[in-house]
Amino acid sequence: MIITGKYPKLRMRRSRKTDWMRRLVRENSLSSNDFILPIFVTEGKNKKIPIKTMPEVFRYSVDKLGQIIDRALKLKIPMVAIFPQTNSGLKDSFGSEALNDNNLVCKAIRKIKDKYKNEIGIMTDVALDPYTSHGHDGILRNKRILNDETIEILIQQSLLQAQMGSDVIAPSDMMDGRIGEIRQELDNNSLKDIKILSYAVKYASSFYGPFRDAVGSKKSLKGDKKTYQMDFSNSEEALREVALDIKEGADLVMVKPGLPYLDIIKKVKENFKIPVLAYQVSGEYSLLMNGINKGLINENSIYETLMSFKRAGANAIISYFADRIDKIIKN
Ligand code: PBG
Repeated sequence: MIITGKYPKLRMRRSRKTDWMRRLVRENSLSSNDFILPIFVTEGKNKKIPIKTMPEVFRYSVDKLGQIIDRALKLKIPMVAIFPQTNSGLKDSFGSEALNDNNLVCKAIRKIKDKYKNEIGIMTDVALDPYTSHGHDGILRNKRILNDETIEILIQQSLLQAQMGSDVIAPSDMMDGRIGEIRQELDNNSLKDIKILSYAVKYASSFYGPFRDAVGSKKSLKGDKKTYQMDFSNSEEALREVALDIKEGADLVMVKPGLPYLDIIKKVKENFKIPVLAYQVSGEYSLLMNGINKGLINENSIYETLMSFKRAGANAIISYFADRIDKIIKN
């Protein structure tokens, strides 16, 4: 029996009926402008080495960086983030290599700036984990990561990266009070326009595994990072972290990882009027890639997760998918 003229009066499906109508009422959209591409650099020449735990992601030697930067430029991606895989022979308990002006990150910054000038932004991580023999982000003494002693090094590391030409200094170490100290050091050295992107909300997460493998800190990491990265049971604490970093001078803040923390992105965005970035981390990336490669889910799942960051309120997304964003958006 067909009942006409009865309920429902309001049919939500009317606006879903055709593609043009769906496009017309769409609330969020994605473009390459929303992305930051992470790039791993490694020693040597003419190298493009696959990373076993991250399908379709590579480590590039500095001379080969042009290949991936050209790709990012063609896609109009605004910024790249540089992560080094430091030779284990250069690592020590203080992460001294972080302050070597000829380390991998410094070489990469100089190379990119020299070739591309201001066509694309460069962001660099401030933390000691790629350089320490124990794999921690700071100085380790008596099983503790020392806050203030670590900041002394982070200040120098930030200054060095900025002097080399990094545009955005991104402390990912989670030491207390480092944003203000770094801001002051940059200002004192006439680097007033260098931006600070604080990894303000970084959880002690199991989703960083493939990244630690990529930068070579996985095997060396002793213990976990729970005494400095956040407890994933907490969300109000995230707001305190962001409030502090804004007060200390952060220009942008990050929430990391991404997908399990959409509630946090939304909360931060609702409480502070500052650009909020989401980091779709290595574990999230590899899970999706493995699911797709095994035929468990289709490729559209990538777009769906990326859109969820926009919906939650993220202004930009750091993602290992960024170099394929043209295909992902077209699908
Ligand atoms: C290091 C750092 C990590 C990531 C970015 N910077 C790893 C960690 O904190 O152990 C993770 C990124 C990813 O998993 O994609 N300070």
